[in-house]
Amino acid sequence: MAASSSLRAFQRKLLAWYRLHQRQLPWRETRDPYRILVSEIMLQQTQVDRVIPKYHEFLARYPSIQSLAQAQWAELRRLWYPLGYNIRPRRLRDIARAAVRDHEGRIPDSYDALLGMKGIGRYTASAVLSFAYEQDTPMVDTNVARVLGRYVGLKGDLKSALRQRRLWQLAADVIPRGRGYDINQAMMDLGATICTARAPRCARCPLRSTCRSVILDAPAASARASRPRPR
Ligand code: ADE
Repeated sequence: MAASSSLRAFQRKLLAWYRLHQRQLPWRETRDPYRILVSEIMLQQTQVDRVIPKYHEFLARYPSIQSLAQAQWAELRRLWYPLGYNIRPRRLRDIARAAVRDHEGRIPDSYDALLGMKGIGRYTASAVLSFAYEQDTPMVDTNVARVLGRYVGLKGDLKSALRQRRLWQLAADVIPRGRGYDINQAMMDLGATICTARAPRCARCPLRSTCRSVILDAPAASARASRPRPR
């Protein structure tokens, strides 16, 4: 990250905010790698509010990797259908089958083994390591990219290879030792509720005094202009 004081401010303020404002989400009440994987695959293309009921329904029907590995396609597709017709359920079943076949029915806990499974990419592997195995693993999705990119004032297309490299490096640098789980979940919450793609709520953001992209509304901005910017 730009300067280590800015990095420490990010960690401290974001974790303090998260302690007070974190969302209660069902996949935060478990560390079961299978459940984490199901949630992450569902969240890839679907909003949190729509995922929650399906997450419960899915796990009631397929409570284990083994049960998912044996799922009938017609039933699986029907259950998944409201989340959108796409290849995610098939991929998820393929992952379950690979886990049963190659990993003694468990979701692996190493990056290489996870990436070796068809259907698991860099983001999903990182999410499993961070949210299930509580490893200090960086992870960058669109929310995290936006939060970090804005904080350091990264300009241009955040999906470009160059900026993605920078963002993954920032996401690694920003993790306080042993707090990867919390900081990663906190960046997701900030990105979903405050640092939104459109109309970010900077006036309510815990990072506003050290963020390079802060936009404050007129009254707050004039109040800020009268005192030196804290760093
Ligand atoms: N989007 C992807 N993973 C998420 C998580 N763990 N919490 C909230 N939103 C998410």
